[in-house]
Formats: sequence, C-alpha cells, structure tokens
Amino acid sequence: MAVLEIRLLGDPVLRERAAHVDAVDDEVRRLAGDMFDTMYEADGVGLAAPQVGIARRLIVVDSRDPDVEPMAVINPRVVTSSSETDRAEEGCLSIPGIREVVERPGRAVIEGLDLEGRPIRVEAKGLLARIFQHEIDHIDGILFIDRISPLKRRFALRRWDKVKPVTDHVPPDATKGGL
Ligand code: NI
Repeated sequence: MAVLEIRLLGDPVLRERAAHVDAVDDEVRRLAGDMFDTMYEADGVGLAAPQVGIARRLIVVDSRDPDVEPMAVINPRVVTSSSETDRAEEGCLSIPGIREVVERPGRAVIEGLDLEGRPIRVEAKGLLARIFQHEIDHIDGILFIDRISPLKRRFALRRWDKVKPVTDHVPPDATKGGL
C-alpha cells in the first residue's frame, strides 16, 4: 500500500477519457488499495484513478457514513438518475482550495464490478450519490468546475491561479474535504 501523488488541474490526465478495465487482477486490486490510502491521507471522500495519473476506469468512495461500506468500483457507470436535483458545495482533491455549489441528480443507480470482478449495483442518494457522480465524471475527463456557470467557472479559475500549489505535490492541508 502506498500514498500516491494526486494530479492537479492542468494535468492532461485529468481530461482524458479513461480506459475500460478488462481484467480485475492483482494489479487493479493493488491500485485500488493505494487509492484508498491516498484518499484517506488527503482526508477525501472519493478518488478516481486519473487523479493519481492512471487513465483507467476505477474509483474509490467512502462517504464516511457508518452504514455504508467503503467501496472500490471498476468500470462504474450511472445507469439511472433522478430528474429531481440537489445543490451542494463540492471540492476536489485535484483542485484544492476551490469549492463551488454544484447541482446534480439527487439519486443515482450505479453499476460496475467489485475487486473480485463481481457485478455490483448501488442505489445512492444524498452525499453518496454526489460522490459517485463526481468520481464517474473524473473517468470521463469531466471536473466539477465544468458543471457550474461559465461566470462562476471564470472566477473559480482566477482564484485557482492564486491558490494553486507551486510544486507538483499537493500540500496536505490544502486538500482536506475534497472528492
Ligand atoms: Ni474530484
């Protein structure tokens, strides 16, 4: 297990459409373990493989709800989502220091594979639904700032220019509470 470097906005890997995972093998399980370590180290609630520089369709999620197990999902996809939406503030471990209100479907059904290659289906609402949608966006190269108004995005990017870390490495304190 290892804590990996989190890629930041501006890194092209965050804008790639990540590749389908064809085989759920030990390499994938090791990557998922490292992603959990990286997410917990950064005090995040979700992480997608492109955020650690791997353009493959794998996410880890822990909404910190005692009734919901932490999950790694391979090739996750939203199969249905509600027409009713929720608005809530989001951050992202790849854009530390920036938070914006994002409107998303309030409920979503997610399907994919677990780390044994078995099909799983999650009926998510609230924070869990938001995390899944945010992380699945990541594997399609979409960031939460793409889901706010152009005006708000312009201001957010201007703020990011001022607060973004100057090195490739994320200062630990700047990453708290992201996805
Ligand atoms: Ni994110």
